[in-house]
Amino acid sequence: MSTTVVVGVQWGDEGKGKFVDILAHDADIVVRFQGGNNAGHTLVVGDERTVLHLIPSGVLNPGKICVIGNGVVVDPAVLIEELTALRKRGYLADDACLKISDEAHLILPYHKSIDLARERLRGKGEIGTTGRGIGPAYEDKIARTGIRIVDLLDEVVFKEKLERNIEEKNHYLKAILREPGLDFATIYDAFRAHADRLRPYVTDTALYLHREIKAGRRVLFEGAQGTMLDVDHGTYPYVTSSNCVAGAVAAGAGIGAGAVRQVVGICKAYTTRVGNGPFPTEEHGDIGVRLRETGDEFGATTGRPRRCGWFDAVLVRQAARLNGLTGIALTKLDVLTGLDPLRICTAYRADGERYEHVPASVRVLDAAVPEYEDLPGWTEPLSHARKLEDLPANARRYVARLEELSDTPFTMISVGARREETIVLP
Ligand code: GDP
Ligand code: IMO
Ligand code: MG
Repeated sequence: MSTTVVVGVQWGDEGKGKFVDILAHDADIVVRFQGGNNAGHTLVVGDERTVLHLIPSGVLNPGKICVIGNGVVVDPAVLIEELTALRKRGYLADDACLKISDEAHLILPYHKSIDLARERLRGKGEIGTTGRGIGPAYEDKIARTGIRIVDLLDEVVFKEKLERNIEEKNHYLKAILREPGLDFATIYDAFRAHADRLRPYVTDTALYLHREIKAGRRVLFEGAQGTMLDVDHGTYPYVTSSNCVAGAVAAGAGIGAGAVRQVVGICKAYTTRVGNGPFPTEEHGDIGVRLRETGDEFGATTGRPRRCGWFDAVLVRQAARLNGLTGIALTKLDVLTGLDPLRICTAYRADGERYEHVPASVRVLDAAVPEYEDLPGWTEPLSHARKLEDLPANARRYVARLEELSDTPFTMISVGARREETIVLP
């Protein structure tokens, strides 16, 4: 069985898109299983930069089947826009190359209104969501009031559910959030058109994947966000509203819990996060600015500047454990050129205690002071390196120390955004 899950190790934006694109070369099927268009996955192939929000990052490899699993929340307008843009460029010409789960839940306009209004009301305490309606859509799913793709395709069911929901959401929006209500007919008409456009792609993707895995097809599962944004294991409440750990693939794609063979963690050679919440190794001064500028650390979805700081081995070890990582691809090593020394966080101190794991309390984590180990930097640019020996000695030493602290073998190193700027380790 050849099944691999790719997950983000930190707070997202680790470079999952780049590695899914690379690993898709040796896969037949690429599957998204959680999150929605809060994700922004960047692929640089030749001179072209592609940012994907919903369609799996295997799409630029010809002939691969892309699957949007039941665990994803789908904004149909965003999906149609992405699909149309890719088709214009010659991708997904065959309708059979994209499959959308009939069980996936929809993001509706009221989810976005609620997301944005709640953030506004939270003021300084805002989570810093992407404003895409992700949280409210998952809330409805869990509350059993969500509308699924299968419902969208059924005119009668869709009308009934939308009417009921609009009535309830408009009441909530007006009375509680002090926002204007939304018009049923406008949303209904737009979504009827979306239904017609998406119908050819909708299927029982869990059944499809079951059959394909049984037939020996190679399947790659593409995680979105990162382990520290996981709704259970992340820095709650400063998290997203889905499980982002590798285990989520079973429920989010509808495959057996034992079906996954490899779990690849994508991990930056330093740390970033977008939005609010604790970040023990964050650098507020020159180092943070330097990392943001050199690493081009601006959100692929919202364009917001990403907060930047040193590598946090406590967090990476936690991710290795929670995901059962079998390997790590280390990204953006090239960004560290010219920084000296390089700091690695090996533990935290807070409330008189020493932590070698990430504590659950946000209050404790906010107070956490990192214990650093310093290593010497290097000055050579790295983007030409294609094997470990091409790296300067201090870069090799830095990578070796990160690997040791991460409890996981490093399998690949990325030294630039392009496909070919990659070192595959023996
Ligand atoms: P994802 O959400 O995990 O797919 O990551 P994003 O695409 O949001 O952010 C990663 C950014 O880093 C993108 O702009 C990538 O093109 C870029 N990138 C990926 N790997 C490398 C690398 O090794 N070096 C540099 N300099 N940029 C990289
Ligand atoms: P990819 O897949 C980085 C963050 C938001 C916010 C929190 C909740 O590109 O790595 P949400 O809109 O999900 O309710 O926002 O999660 N967030 C991400 N940060 N990369 C992402 O995706 C993210 N998706 C959500 O910034 O802090
Ligand atoms: Mg991203």
